Amino acid sequence: MIVKYDPKWWSCLKEIDTNCFPHPAIDWELVSNYMTRMYFHTWGPDSVPYGYSITKTCPNALMILKLCVHPFHRCKGVGTALLHDIELRAIGKMIAVNVHELNLTGIYWLQQRGYKSIRIDRNLYSGRDGYAFYKEIK
Ligand SMILES: CC(C)(COP(=O)(O)OP(=O)(O)OC[C@H]1O[C@@H](n2cnc3c(N)ncnc32)[C@H](O)[C@@H]1OP(=O)(O)O)[C@@H](O)C(=O)NCCC(=O)NCCS
Repeated sequence: MIVKYDPKWWSCLKEIDTNCFPHPAIDWELVSNYMTRMYFHTWGPDSVPYGYSITKTCPNALMILKLCVHPFHRCKGVGTALLHDIELRAIGKMIAVNVHELNLTGIYWLQQRGYKSIRIDRNLYSGRDGYAFYKEIK
């Protein structure tokens, strides 16, 4: 199940994020101000999240700031479930997401899900470029 973020899972966010490419725009101190959603495989008092998404609403688009799955729980459909959860909130809009140029898994994964790279953002990741991906959600 996917639920809204609660600050008690702050340390889990950081653990899931281990070894991920840094995001240029997220202010981690303000994470409660973004729309943050957490994926749980099981639900109970001791359950820990397997992944999360952070999105921001812009006038004509929903921007994915982060979509990340714990390295131990990848390739089990968690990322796809989080993406589907975002797409349900973006019907009639564009979804935009930036990916680090070296994140080949992320690039391939988005392409497989209908996202098109339309722009290279030079130097987005302090010295490294990023690709801007978009998908129109009908
Ligand atoms: C990209 C990411 C979100 C995918 O999440 P996931 O839960 O592992 O992905 P799913 O189980 O939903 O999808 C599995 C698919 O991804 C591919 N995949 C996932 N990890 C992979 C890897 N390390 N190498 C190659 N392919 C990989 C699988 O081949 C599989 O393809 P298929 O659907 O054709 O079988 C996850 O790898 C991740 O958190 N990466 C770091 C952050 C990131 O890159 N986010 C995306 C950009 S915002």
